Amino acid sequence: MSVTVRSFAKINLGLRIGNLRADGFHELLTIYQTVALHDVIRVQVGRGSGIEIRSEDPRVPKDESNTCYRIVDKATGALNARGRVVIEIEKCLPVQGGLGGASGNAVATLLALERALKKELPGPEKLRIAAEVGSDLPLFLVGGTVLGVGRGEQVYPLPDLPTLACVVVTPDVGVSTPKVFADWDASQAPELTPADASDRMNEFGRVLSAWLSAQQKAKSGKGLSGVSARGRGRAETPLLDLVRTGIENDFERVVFPQYPELLEVKRVVERAGAFYASLSGSGSAIYGLFATRSAAQKAAARLQKMGVKALATSTLTRRQYWSRIFE
Ligand code: C5P
Repeated sequence: MSVTVRSFAKINLGLRIGNLRADGFHELLTIYQTVALHDVIRVQVGRGSGIEIRSEDPRVPKDESNTCYRIVDKATGALNARGRVVIEIEKCLPVQGGLGGASGNAVATLLALERALKKELPGPEKLRIAAEVGSDLPLFLVGGTVLGVGRGEQVYPLPDLPTLACVVVTPDVGVSTPKVFADWDASQAPELTPADASDRMNEFGRVLSAWLSAQQKAKSGKGLSGVSARGRGRAETPLLDLVRTGIENDFERVVFPQYPELLEVKRVVERAGAFYASLSGSGSAIYGLFATRSAAQKAAARLQKMGVKALATSTLTRRQYWSRIFE
């Protein structure tokens, strides 16, 4: 039996880089948001043994360096399962794009494998295995609006943002995440001391915490500024306000000087009407959030005319994410 799963992308709504840890990773604080752009993963378990990766896209590694290979290797062990696992990857998302393409592919593969085997790992075990394969995987086991802490692998569901119209631009540039982290370290020393890094993380944490409690208060009818929480607008606006007023992705500070064309893309997306535009993760994808779906579609068409690879899409709430994942 072949199981087909949609492997959705993510964007980062703000990202703070903290201290370099003893294990070589950096402390992170970010809000992940799943979006509707996706690859398609098909998993089949047959007789024999081994793991085979198929993809028509030459950029997709077919060996054990592929995140899908690595997660199947770990999961079959944990599930005590046998058989030959064939994974087919239909690629639409960019490689090294900051959209979590390879990470989402691995989680989709894990979910498909469980279905194909009719066996399931306990939730915490799945999160552990996902985190072992990469920092950006566990978020795809939550979906929607997700808080990422630790090295980004510790994930907590946040109250979902409303579905937002979005344009994702995928420039023909691959950005290496480890290299960008190393460049960040080089660029920060010596003016940013570890204490400064923590302060900036704490500041972001306070803003988030204030948003969460404002939402709680709004639910109980005691919204901010005494506004009653009729409808859903009030509770959602603080994070949208935060987004609008310039929640920042620290990676921009190292990526834009190296790839000035990406800053130019961000400006073009802003000029096309986005109320907020940012690099996603370490890039190279740039996204813009728009007030309406038609504004996003118009902006994408305008960008395409200028020769920019732009796709109109929307963010996915947790419920949408899980209801659309299996075909
Ligand atoms: O976890 P992942 O495999 O995505 O990380 C790839 C590399 O990116 C790590 O080996 C590390 O160099 C860097 N990284 C980091 N801090 C993080 C996440 C990743 O320095 N929080």
